[in-house]
Amino acid sequence: MRIGVLTGGGDCPGLNAVIRAVVRKAVDGYGDQLLGFRDGWRGVLEDSFDELTIESTRGILPRGGTILGSSRTNPYKRDDGVALARHTLARHQLDGLIAIGGEDTLGVAKRLNDDGVNVIGVPKTIDNDLGATDVTFGFDTALQVATEAIDRLHTTAESHNRILVVEVMGRSAGWIALHSGIAGGADVILIPEIPFDIDEVCRLIRRRHERGRYFSIVVAAEGATPKAGTMELVTGDVDEFGHPRLGGIGQRLEQEIEKRTGYETRATVLGHVQRGGTPTAFDRVLATRLGLAAIDAAHEGRWGMMTALHSTQIELVELADAVAEVRRVPIEEYSRYGVLFG
Ligand code: F6P
Repeated sequence: MRIGVLTGGGDCPGLNAVIRAVVRKAVDGYGDQLLGFRDGWRGVLEDSFDELTIESTRGILPRGGTILGSSRTNPYKRDDGVALARHTLARHQLDGLIAIGGEDTLGVAKRLNDDGVNVIGVPKTIDNDLGATDVTFGFDTALQVATEAIDRLHTTAESHNRILVVEVMGRSAGWIALHSGIAGGADVILIPEIPFDIDEVCRLIRRRHERGRYFSIVVAAEGATPKAGTMELVTGDVDEFGHPRLGGIGQRLEQEIEKRTGYETRATVLGHVQRGGTPTAFDRVLATRLGLAAIDAAHEGRWGMMTALHSTQIELVELADAVAEVRRVPIEEYSRYGVLFG
């Protein structure tokens, strides 16, 4: 077979492990030829690619990022997007594509597949917010980074009797905030799923002071929002998929908490540190398993499907199910941890 591979959306530790696994099995196992499209869907639209071989993918397993590059290009934002994709596949006599991405990249994969372009999806995102899979690779690495940062912030918060606000990624799902906050023993955790009450945040911090703990750690997902009308927020530009550029809740919380409690407060924004660098062993193994399953799926003609982790098994699910809705933190799950706050 002849297959194209691409990585789209925000990069994520483990992408190279998928590419390597696909190439190993495709070339050595099936005798396939592979093209790697550059920068996500942009490479398909602009016919920009490199041949992927065993040699060109040597040594990439532990490397973060993606050797193919990534972008947030949306083919459906242009009138000729589908035609260009079809044209590129025909020109290179490709049987189909393996698209490694999150909700946006896989949303495009599903639509293209419906429009007659063969695609198999592989789920990735540090946000862990894709449906139809138990977990996405990249999340474990981001979680480790965030947890280590919280551990480090704890010691300096305690030394200075300060409130430290840690802003972590998570646009519409609070998995990184919740799990790093629990792992790091945070006193307050704010997630996008549940608008927060700034008075309650300050109450929990004051209660700690009354109990003789003069420092606190507040973990906030970048997409956390205050209850309507309680705090002003700043919003940024939107990308080709309509997502606003976030960032800023940490600074706003710093100002509000200090103003309302009188306690010295500082904010740290972890940002892209969470996405960069080497993947954990868990993410490398998961990414490898998903990549091996994706090339098998292509050979079985299972276009329109996505590889997914269900319990301990890798299975195929409909791309449509994976992108139907964002997998958010259930309110009961968050509430269970309430006794640990403050
Ligand atoms: O989708 C993953 C993610 O890291 C989100 O957590 C974050 O909101 C977004 O990407 C940031 O995107 P960009 O790198 O384009 O600013």
